[in-house]
Amino acid sequence: MRYVYPSPQPEAAPHATPDEFRAALSQLASGVSLVTVHDPEDGEDAGMTATSFLSVSLEPPLVLISVREDSRMDEVLSRTDTWAVSLLDEGQKALGSRFAMKGRLSDRLLFADTPHRRGPRSGAPLVDGALATVECRTEQRIPAGDHTLLLGRVLEATVPNPAGRPLLYFRGGYRTLG
Ligand SMILES: Cc1cc2nc3c(=O)[nH]c(=O)nc-3n(C[C@H](O)[C@H](O)[C@H](O)COP(=O)(O)O)c2cc1C
Repeated sequence: MRYVYPSPQPEAAPHATPDEFRAALSQLASGVSLVTVHDPEDGEDAGMTATSFLSVSLEPPLVLISVREDSRMDEVLSRTDTWAVSLLDEGQKALGSRFAMKGRLSDRLLFADTPHRRGPRSGAPLVDGALATVECRTEQRIPAGDHTLLLGRVLEATVPNPAGRPLLYFRGGYRTLG
């Protein structure tokens, strides 16, 4: 028997609404990472909590992050091509929350309070206690809706905390592996 696909309803919206999109995507459990960059212009560090970090290719080693286009991070990443990602441990929930607060505290104060070392390849802060860190150089900037996708070549990758457990984000809240 031949299956006949239902034709789309003529009155259906052209795409999912923001509420539908959010509700569906909140069901995706993600690791939480901190994207960091050293701004060559003012010498300051910037950090942003992100769940959009994705492994893309092994050879060459490529990763992807998605950054909101009007954010400070997007602005800094438009003038420097090296950056880093620290994958947060379950004990670093406060760090995730603090680096997701827009404009509340300056990044300078946050980093002064956050033990870190400077990545040798990127100049960006690498957070102490992270499960893993990668330092990247931007290969491609891809505009995507209200975000910019950054495809980065991994220059250096480390696993400073191999026994750690990941911080997760699921259904609108931070979680840990049960
Ligand atoms: C769990 C979590 C994940 C987030 N993931 C991203 C992300 O992948 N990309 C992004 O642009 N913003 C993401 N955000 C929001 C940014 O962390 C936040 O908007 C940003 O730090 C605000 O600072 P800015 O606009 O001053 O740069 C996330 C926030 C949270 C709490």
